Amino acid sequence: MIDPDQDSLGGLPNKRQVAASFSRAAGSYDSVAALQRQVGQRLLAALPASINPARWLDLGCGTGYFSRVLAERFPASAGLALDIAEGMLQHARPLGGAQQFIAGDAEQLPLRDGTCDLLFSSLALQWCANFPAVLSEARRVLRPGGVLAFSSLCVGTLQELRDSWQAVDGFVHVNRFRRFEDYQRVCGDSTLTLLSLHVTPQTLHFPDVRSLTHELKALGAHNLNPGRPGGLTGRARMLALFNAYEQFRQPQGLPATYQVVYGVLQKEIS
Ligand SMILES: C[S@@+](CC[C@H](N)C(=O)[O-])C[C@H]1O[C@@H](n2cnc3c(N)ncnc32)[C@H](O)[C@@H]1O
Repeated sequence: MIDPDQDSLGGLPNKRQVAASFSRAAGSYDSVAALQRQVGQRLLAALPASINPARWLDLGCGTGYFSRVLAERFPASAGLALDIAEGMLQHARPLGGAQQFIAGDAEQLPLRDGTCDLLFSSLALQWCANFPAVLSEARRVLRPGGVLAFSSLCVGTLQELRDSWQAVDGFVHVNRFRRFEDYQRVCGDSTLTLLSLHVTPQTLHFPDVRSLTHELKALGAHNLNPGRPGGLTGRARMLALFNAYEQFRQPQGLPATYQVVYGVLQKEIS
């Protein structure tokens, strides 16, 4: 169901690149995923208190950490974990949590209509250029009354790194993100009922720029955008980047801000 060669819309990297990058990162992801853990926990806390799904889907499950958390929280439910990166699925499968680990694309789910009560998706949908397609697929596979809970990233994420590169060479070195207003508009236009949608900044601190870029690479989330500069990054340009980033330094270190979007939507009961 995936067209790996499909070029993405909106200047996001294509799906083959995304899948390859996350597959490569499967072994290192968990060691650097502190922010991803916090975000997923907040998303769990945002689920409607009464929710008790017979079948849940962890959409963009990565290493499956939240599949295992969902399995503990809903022990009587059946769980599915889906990701576009085969390497992530290979890592997650032996650790359990879900009954099935499925390769697939959030924009084109390989699932039948009306088969899930909860779609949980933490920090995956920023990689989907066609967000309306994601919501329409969510609506299709949800049962009446079912819930989509997602966290994602919007414009302003890694702004310090983007601005610092801008001062060095003007190239795109940081992944592009949708604006929060676009999340609002697309959620508002969807036929799902919007229960909540908000954006919260979360800032990490690093001793130096190399620690930040190493972490992004270990997460599989380093820059994959079309328009990124090819070839080696010269020593002089890296030094210029380090200098430019220093303007942001705080007592705790160099800040890297993530603008985290949390959304909860529900399919009508009938
Ligand atoms: C930052 S990781 C988050 C993993 C996990 N949800 C967590 O919170 O730890 C993003 C995941 O989304 C997956 N992904 C990206 N685009 C996707 C798509 N179109 N469909 C399904 N999964 C996708 C990536 O392969 C990656 O495993």
